[in-house]
Amino acid sequence: MSSLRRTTSAAAALVIAASCLVLGSTPAPALENGLLRTPPMGFNNWNSTQCRAEFNETMIKGIADIFVSKGLKDVGYTYVNIDDCWALPSRNSAGNLVPDPARFPSGIKALADYVHAKGLKFGIYTSAGTKTCNTAGFPGALGHEQQDANLFASWGVDYLKYDNCNNQGVDAQQRYKAMRDALAKTGRPIAYSICEWGQTKPWTWAEPVGNLWRTTGDISDRWSSMIGKAQANRGLAQYAGPGHWNDPDMLEVGNGGMTTTEYRTHFSLWAMMAAPLLIGSDLRKVSADDFAILKNTDVIALDQDPLGKQATVLSANAGLVVYSKVLANGDRAVALSNETAATATISTTASATGIGSASSYTLKDLWSKAVRTTTGTISASVPSHATVLYRVSRAGGAARFEAESASLSAGGTIDANHAGYSGTGFANGANAVGSYVEWQVTGPASTLTFGFANGTTAARPVDISVDGTVVAAAVPFPPTGAWTTWSTVARPISLANGPHTIRLTATTDGGPANLDYLDVSP
Ligand code: GLA
Repeated sequence: MSSLRRTTSAAAALVIAASCLVLGSTPAPALENGLLRTPPMGFNNWNSTQCRAEFNETMIKGIADIFVSKGLKDVGYTYVNIDDCWALPSRNSAGNLVPDPARFPSGIKALADYVHAKGLKFGIYTSAGTKTCNTAGFPGALGHEQQDANLFASWGVDYLKYDNCNNQGVDAQQRYKAMRDALAKTGRPIAYSICEWGQTKPWTWAEPVGNLWRTTGDISDRWSSMIGKAQANRGLAQYAGPGHWNDPDMLEVGNGGMTTTEYRTHFSLWAMMAAPLLIGSDLRKVSADDFAILKNTDVIALDQDPLGKQATVLSANAGLVVYSKVLANGDRAVALSNETAATATISTTASATGIGSASSYTLKDLWSKAVRTTTGTISASVPSHATVLYRVSRAGGAARFEAESASLSAGGTIDANHAGYSGTGFANGANAVGSYVEWQVTGPASTLTFGFANGTTAARPVDISVDGTVVAAAVPFPPTGAWTTWSTVARPISLANGPHTIRLTATTDGGPANLDYLDVSP
């Protein structure tokens, strides 16, 4: 058996090698399913039931009913997914998987139809191995990718979680790409969840393969497990984005092994990390407090923010952790998270989040719903294992982006030798055509205002570009009379919600004027 498998994979490798020779530099097919532009929200039974008999058709239908009757569908929960142990241990004579008739007497197609009739989506599970993970030995899809994908599509499956057990040592990329391609060939849009536990760093290869990938081993319903998953996942922000998410595993909220405070931290951090929000508790039994966590629309909005940025860690000192997440409307979400056993004060600043300077900021506490303003400090006393979660907005007026935090083309310098500038200095661009100063800012905006000084007697025109496109050509920055006399040039330039690159490029030999700041006005 194993020698046959070796022969088969050697033959497969030859075919792949041969097709590479023929195709030359043709890129590998990419994941182009257009799905999960925001992280998936829904349910999966595993954390609640594992393979116990209570995992059955009645339960799954009950969950779908509650999604509608208790408003979970209205706040974004969509996928009703089943995990391991749904099948019989053997394929049928046609080689197809067979739903366990004791658990699913009506079959999987009927269950998917039930879920669809409620306006929800249905997901299923199998493994990229010869068998799934459960010791009962349910059949996996390795070597049966197309047949199983076709069967799932024929049942109306919308989401596949593809596990890693019994993989026979076959290369992970090969296994997960085979199922990606099989799903694509069905012609049905099926969200594709890679459950490889982070073993081969899927974040480095899976963006063109799956819509999400597990970054860790299995979560369990304990503080130490949950916070360990957050710690492992939080450094991977650069790999997440619309259609391709880091997955630190499913939610435990409501399963009873953590306190309400700890479950709030769990939900807060998953939302900050743009993680899947897959409820893992039996919603027919969860407490009102835990239900309220799962339905906190302010927190869900962070997870589902259309910009799709995972939070980054601003600081992590002895278990006191500050996370910041850029949001599409220019706001920031800030989490002050206390992993220690004692209450502690955790602090950061609006400026550290890169939101841009303003005279004041609004902080909305997304759990207590209290709103306050600050001139910059973001700080709270945070109980043990709690997370204070703020949505931070500029409280009005312009946001100032100093030139000393801008990027300059070669030869440009940040100087401070002509008094009267704001902040700690100004940008002195090289004296040449093409010399530029570039800011990273956040919209929305309708006006851009540049602080500058020009001590010469001739204007220093620049092209103003937004995200690489010139929106105002040869805008003059006129003489101000002296290098210490600062003035402004304003232009009505509108920026959509979200981050933008603003570049001023000199169009004459003198280079740009000395530039002090860019004010972005809503
Ligand atoms: C693996 C996965 C889990 C779950 C079980 C089912 O452990 O990582 O999420 O699907 O298999 O057997």
